[in-house]
Amino acid sequence: MKTPGRLYGVGVGPGDPELLTLKALRLLQAAPVIAYQSATNRDSIARKIVASYLTGNQIEVPFHLPRALEPEKAESIYDKEVAPIAEHLADGRDVVVLCEGDPFFYGSFMYVFTRLSDKYETEVVPGISSLMACPVALGVPFTYYNDILTVLPAPLPAEVLTTQLLATNAAAIIKLGRHFTKVRDILHQLGLASQARYIERATTTQQRIIPLDEVEPAEVPYFSMIVIPTKIRL
Ligand SMILES: C[S@@+](CC[C@H](N)C(=O)[O-])C[C@H]1O[C@@H](n2cnc3c(N)ncnc32)[C@H](O)[C@@H]1O
Repeated sequence: MKTPGRLYGVGVGPGDPELLTLKALRLLQAAPVIAYQSATNRDSIARKIVASYLTGNQIEVPFHLPRALEPEKAESIYDKEVAPIAEHLADGRDVVVLCEGDPFFYGSFMYVFTRLSDKYETEVVPGISSLMACPVALGVPFTYYNDILTVLPAPLPAEVLTTQLLATNAAAIIKLGRHFTKVRDILHQLGLASQARYIERATTTQQRIIPLDEVEPAEVPYFSMIVIPTKIRL
């Protein structure tokens, strides 16, 4: 019987190809198979980040795990999408799954992990997350001493966002996209708008930092974040 391949979930950082760990680089160049999430007709962001490091003779396996599906439907679609990765592993080939940012911080790799990690040896390599990269790109110290930091996905209901923002010292609001206006209104209501900073596509060549009230809601991409740092302490 063949020895199965190893599965690697490798964080490739937030966008700048230099923000990759040495371990990620070594593993992704050594693997015969590279897999990445790629929505239909759209380039994979994770692949784009590492494009200049790929050897040119690796097998590439794009997969698509669409969001916002009924749970039962998602399960069978995800099973089907992950199957080609399992086939390579069963045939003895190591597979590196590229993950934007960090694999376990809201990463789609988790759906691969939950399906395959009990069947194949698996290693997860942490990456620099957008949670770390955005405050640094904005130049705002994020948390001090015993401050509480809360990560809030923007699709949550307004009441939940409001309650959580009132209960924290610092926050990162992710997955903005079409939820931007709702979030901005809440920040104004809570008196947090002047403290909040908006950034999109942090660390990439397309990075933009825009004052909150000048952001055009219709143009807010998925890869954007609002950072609310704690009050500066001297
Ligand atoms: C599904 S989560 C994945 C997070 C990723 N695993 C990480 O560690 O950064 C996607 C959200 O992360 C944030 N994000 C990821 N990369 C970003 C970037 N380069 N600039 C701004 N926000 C980013 C956005 O809020 C986006 O909606």
